[in-house]
Amino acid sequence: MIPRDFIQTLLGRVDIVDTVERYVPLKKAGTNYVARCPFHSEKTPSFSVNPAKQFYYCFGCGASGTALGFVMEYTGANFVDAVHELAQQVGLEVPVEHARQAVRTEARLDLGEVLRRAADFYRAQLKVSEPAIQYLKRRGLTGAIAARFGLGYAPEGWRSLAAAFPDYDSRQLVEAGLVIDNDEGKRYDRFRGRVMFPILDSRGEVIGFGGRVIGAGEPKYLNSPETPLFEKGRELYGLTQARRAIRDQHRVIVVEGYMDVVALAQAGVEYAVATLGTATSAVHVQKLLRMADQVIFAFDGDQAGRNAAQRALEVALPHLVDGKQVSFLFLPEDEDPDSYVRQQGREAFERLLSQATPLSEFLLETLLRGVDMTQAEGRAQFLQAAKGSLAQITAPALSLLLRSRIAALAQVERQDVETLMGKAPVAAQAHPARRVQRSAPSSLAARLLACVLHQPELVKTEGLPGEEAVLPDEFALLAVTDFVRHHEGPVNLAVILEHFRGQPEEPFIQEALRREFPAIESSPTDQLVLLFQEGLARLNRLSRTRAIDALLARARNQALTGEERQLLQELTMSRQGK
Ligand code: UTP
Ligand code: MN
Repeated sequence: MIPRDFIQTLLGRVDIVDTVERYVPLKKAGTNYVARCPFHSEKTPSFSVNPAKQFYYCFGCGASGTALGFVMEYTGANFVDAVHELAQQVGLEVPVEHARQAVRTEARLDLGEVLRRAADFYRAQLKVSEPAIQYLKRRGLTGAIAARFGLGYAPEGWRSLAAAFPDYDSRQLVEAGLVIDNDEGKRYDRFRGRVMFPILDSRGEVIGFGGRVIGAGEPKYLNSPETPLFEKGRELYGLTQARRAIRDQHRVIVVEGYMDVVALAQAGVEYAVATLGTATSAVHVQKLLRMADQVIFAFDGDQAGRNAAQRALEVALPHLVDGKQVSFLFLPEDEDPDSYVRQQGREAFERLLSQATPLSEFLLETLLRGVDMTQAEGRAQFLQAAKGSLAQITAPALSLLLRSRIAALAQVERQDVETLMGKAPVAAQAHPARRVQRSAPSSLAARLLACVLHQPELVKTEGLPGEEAVLPDEFALLAVTDFVRHHEGPVNLAVILEHFRGQPEEPFIQEALRREFPAIESSPTDQLVLLFQEGLARLNRLSRTRAIDALLARARNQALTGEERQLLQELTMSRQGK
């Protein structure tokens, strides 16, 4: 483990301009530096590096981060390797801190440690479990690949984990999703008699598990529940192991199963990741499109696979970027990537990949399904459906090409399609910055958070959010303001981002950056102060009202305690006061 303090020291030494310059030539433009974005292809530079904030941002694709984040994204290094790389660049030695000596400042760190210890335990158990070893061998895996993915085995017993956790009754085992308390308050291991696949976050830390029964049994796969560290719709299985290969090959395959990822890696196809038994999410698509030029969804050749592809298509439309390719590979009936690559080998599988259906084809196929294009009514129905999909696509060239194809298929002029569809999405892209903000109604807390990220001093001079915040993004706002207020030494955006890397607040910070930051950053300072003050007052009013409503609702069912009554009175008074 790398001590958290060291990351801050490192950030104090590194200059993001130097770091980025090592990989991408930069040009000075005012106080910033610009370049053509290395994370998507473009003709005019929309990638900008801000030395004051120690932060980079692309107005085209929304990629953003610190010097450390840049090294990870650009070279495909994991967190630890990127820290070492940067440290070497500025001549610092990375101190070693062993997990056990780590200072436990936060409960969240403990949760990570609990999961790590469980993973160690399961790994050790695999070494001594003959049936589990035989099972993996039967599935064609070597010891080396099992080690690369940290595979383990959860023994049959009800309380096997007690061997790794003397404090088996600790609350944190429940929080980590490792044990279950039954109705009688008896506690037992969630995972029993299963091959264990640890799920890692972007820093390579264990955040959850998937466990497969050996042989038959229900459910076939059991997954960790969502915990403060683990949100299924954001994570991709195998990403840590695949990073380098994705970077080298400029492509990534998304498969359905844990075993598909591991079997593909075993066969030499190292750039595969899997969703975690959930549908592809917008977060997944955005992550994937940032990492690679080519994203290939490989789904099983059954109806479930087709449905999953359909869903991935819909989710992907708003995030498509010209110059990047998304395609769909459907495996032959009754095959999955694991079975296919095991029987046919890597070359055959990669040949299949090269024949994947481009997203535009798949979209047209979908739109044409079940309509009779020989009839005017059928063509009208087709145009109607196409309109919905086109409205989602903001990539200008792709949108244009699709309009031409759609016009030809419907036997109308392109001009007519333009009229029918309206031009809105393409026009929006003419101002890339605006496109980034456009996506959804913004939350007040996210906007305030963006203000603080842009100008941390606001917190010191312009007041703080009240403590009644209850929504997750409001918690993130509170946590960030709290950090800024108490941090010793200079604070800039990079310092904040690295502090919250891998923490539960991180997704909200990213969201605020993506949605609100560009607009905030371009507002004049005096306006920003006003915006922040007003927003804060509004947020505080809102959360007070919410707290009052909650107390009143409670009062309807039961008598409030003295403390609650007092709180209610105070809240009501402060609301009237303002
Ligand atoms: P599959 O049933 O396609 O499994 O589920 P697989 O990966 O081919 O598994 P093997 O080859 O039989 O071992 C694909 C994914 O769906 C989720 C898991 O993430 C799995 O990897 N899943 C499946 C579950 O979460 N629970 C289940 O019971 C089954
Ligand atoms: Mn399978």
